[in-house]
Amino acid sequence: MEIINRLQPGPDGHAVVYTKIFEGVRMEHPKEATVLVVGGGGRCHAIVDALSRSSRVGKIYCAPGNAGIAAQAECVPLKDTQVEQLRDFALERGVDLTVVGPEVSLAAGIADVFTAAGLRIFGPSKDAAAIESSKDFAKRLMARYGVPTAAYRTFEDYDSALDYVRGGSFPVVLKYDGLAAGKGVVIPENLEEAESTLKDMLLDDRFGKGKVVVEEFLMGPEFSFMCFVDGERVFPMPLSQDHKRAFEGDKGPNTGGMGAYSPLPFITDEDREYAMEHIMKPVASAMVKEGRPFKGVLYGGLMKTPAGIKVIEFNCRFGDPETEVVLPLLKSDIYDIFSAVVDGSPMPEIQWDTKSSMGFVMASSGYPGSYEKGYVIEGLEDALSDPDVRIYHMGTAEKDGRTVTAGGRVLMVIGSGETLVEARDRALGAVGKIRCGNLFYRRDIGWRVLK
Ligand code: AMP
Ligand code: GLY
Repeated sequence: MEIINRLQPGPDGHAVVYTKIFEGVRMEHPKEATVLVVGGGGRCHAIVDALSRSSRVGKIYCAPGNAGIAAQAECVPLKDTQVEQLRDFALERGVDLTVVGPEVSLAAGIADVFTAAGLRIFGPSKDAAAIESSKDFAKRLMARYGVPTAAYRTFEDYDSALDYVRGGSFPVVLKYDGLAAGKGVVIPENLEEAESTLKDMLLDDRFGKGKVVVEEFLMGPEFSFMCFVDGERVFPMPLSQDHKRAFEGDKGPNTGGMGAYSPLPFITDEDREYAMEHIMKPVASAMVKEGRPFKGVLYGGLMKTPAGIKVIEFNCRFGDPETEVVLPLLKSDIYDIFSAVVDGSPMPEIQWDTKSSMGFVMASSGYPGSYEKGYVIEGLEDALSDPDVRIYHMGTAEKDGRTVTAGGRVLMVIGSGETLVEARDRALGAVGKIRCGNLFYRRDIGWRVLK
């Protein structure tokens, strides 16, 4: 049976809805969508969790996923860089929408490959992903369109780079121009350190052949502004803050992120408005003008400096671990949001919970250096007994029916509450119930606002 509603003028000139009912005609609606999420860390677990709250989604696949994701999605043993195999899988299984987590897949052109095959995919083209994969491209774009960022120069030649650095002040920021898995930024305090870093990056090609962006050192709190972007259309998410250093007091080496929280009391409404009007919207429209329209999540890594808000970096995807604290606040249906971006159709009103959210990463001892895997994790069910706690798996596997550690960052435990203190206490309460012989975490997530 098919039902067709048509608006037509009635006998008195007013619009009347005429309903026609056809028996025996195939009905297209409602249909439960099949979704593929590409990636396998905590960010993808948060995306899968949000999709599983959608009334529009039936089946969820995740490639490669992990032991936690497996409770909500069917994990597929394909890597995030196996772009062609992922496309073939999506075609075979009739996947209606693919959502991409990691930048490597986007930089490898997954969106282009899927789109060419007629598949719907949420994530930018390879050309648009350059906003993250090439620091030089991002800096040139910002310079051309007057977007506030640190002063910079780009070098391919070691001697010229060293000359320039010698003539400047310290600390100085050296950024390798390419994807370097978070290891491409070094901030030398003196000339010797700068020399050896430039040697690494330009003479020894430690990360591959490339360029180096030499940047002015800025100071101030950093924050993350993620927006759903479809060309010129920009839809903000709540602000959040990552904690990159491994140990309490922001000490130790940089990591993929040890915790995050939202909202950010130190960012005013005016700051946010400024970031939206002078950074996120102009950059989205600049990408359109450059012939690289952006579709997906544009992540602004911003800093509140004494001279105003400036861009530290852009990412072309959901942030990790920011997504794990932000998406639990989403009250709208994420499938509809993804669809509006992918199809260029009207965006439904996006509603966010005004609650606070804070998450703690539990990592393997030794991370971000070398670490062992395979330690049994216990107490997860107990930790999840609080309805205001979520646990997203970052690096876990299943072994003989038990959950074991399988990565550097292993779990993220997120609490929500009316205040950040409440959110923190809930999360830490749950962390205390998790037993594992090889995990550490920072207790001071949110120190900047919780003192
Ligand atoms: P990026 O990969 O560009 O986000 O850089 C990694 C980290 O280096 C940032 O999160 C900042 O903490 C730091 N950083 C990058 N650029 C600057 C800068 N111009 N001034 C100060 N710190 C910076
Ligand atoms: N949290 C930083 C990033 O996602 O790159």
